[in-house]
Amino acid sequence: MRTTIGIIGGGPAGLLLARLLHRAGIDCVVLESRTRAYAEHRQRAGMLEQGTVDALRECGAADRLEVDGLVHNGIELRFDRERHHIDFPVLTGGRTVTIYAQTEIVKDLIALQLADGPQLLFEAEAVAIERPESDTPVVRFVHQGREQSLTCDWVVGCDGFHGIARDTFPAALSRTYEHDYPYSWLGVLADVPPSCEELIYARGEGGFALHSMRSPSVSRLYLQVPNETFPDDWPDERIWDELSARFAIDADWHLERGPITAKSVTPMRSYVHEPMRHGRLLLAGDAAHIVPPTGAKGLNLAVSDVRLAARALIELHRTGSAQLLDRYSELCLDRVWQATRFSYDMTRMLHADPDGDAFEHRLQLARLRRITASRPAAAELAANYTGLPLPL
Ligand code: APR
Ligand code: PHB
Repeated sequence: MRTTIGIIGGGPAGLLLARLLHRAGIDCVVLESRTRAYAEHRQRAGMLEQGTVDALRECGAADRLEVDGLVHNGIELRFDRERHHIDFPVLTGGRTVTIYAQTEIVKDLIALQLADGPQLLFEAEAVAIERPESDTPVVRFVHQGREQSLTCDWVVGCDGFHGIARDTFPAALSRTYEHDYPYSWLGVLADVPPSCEELIYARGEGGFALHSMRSPSVSRLYLQVPNETFPDDWPDERIWDELSARFAIDADWHLERGPITAKSVTPMRSYVHEPMRHGRLLLAGDAAHIVPPTGAKGLNLAVSDVRLAARALIELHRTGSAQLLDRYSELCLDRVWQATRFSYDMTRMLHADPDGDAFEHRLQLARLRRITASRPAAAELAANYTGLPLPL
């Protein structure tokens, strides 16, 4: 097989990149190791920056998002039994964010791709990338039990944290930066209308809790739990009791309960691989970096990487100039480190550190108070949360 751009991975990064290239008349093939049903049912995040919504709109993938997406004008911070509204449009000159599940974005992009191309192969697992330094890198993959090869002008590794693209970088070139956090998130989906119009980020006495949503009738909630927690350690009643305690405020408010339909535990990690380009191989999304979910940046960073990759590859295609491709890694990593910093700060500010003391707790509360008392401090949070501008 031969194509211009070989894309490994059919998650949001790979699928959106294929769409952007296809619309610019550039031929590509997407290889996805899982089945379509698996890819369409993975529960993931759901908070989209304005730039992510704009990118989906520009490439014609926002029809359902326009109808079902929930536009949010801010978030609520809770601590010391008080609630504080952070108003994004007021603080950022009009920016908002939108709740729309990543699973739904993947469904929308798969449907478009299967309707009018380019080629998307499911159960096609890339096993090696050969000669990334040459003009014709080759992806070896196994599809329906048969080993095949895809010869490309460029390869983009959108194969997530457990993919193979990152390992193709020579060890002498790769630098990795990692941080593990001493807690995890227990996430649940519940068939109950959200108890609040906005997302609530709470630093409760027992630790962090987040109230999010998927639709007017489905809530998405998260609780800080110790690492190595099993979901079965947490019967539904215990989850609701702990959520209610962490969201508790002195004002009249209570958390609605309902049937829990899904439960899972996610560890919290920061990870960055540098550089994001080697020869004619680019990395994008989780293949190159992971952030803890507290800042809602994972999906949005993947989207900003592929927007930059698409621009750079389109510029090469139209003008023959590789200038943007030469800056790809540097431009992405600048944003990646800003998001890594923001996600780290949000995580540390809101979670109870199992090894922390009363002094640390007081500092957390002082940081939160500063945000709610100072307009520039709130504006800084709002600018990062709604998304820093793309560098181009
Ligand atoms: N060959 C083909 N496909 C592969 C291979 C491989 N060797 N290895 C992994 N994949 C596929 C996975 O099955 C998955 O569908 O690559 C895809 C990667 O998708 P994601 O993990 O969703 O990563 P990405 O597209 O970068 O999406 C951004 O940020 O914080 C997260 O939740 C957020 O998952 C989202 C991600
Ligand atoms: C979610 O809705 O799943 C969500 C929202 C905000 C976050 C993390 C997850 O920070």
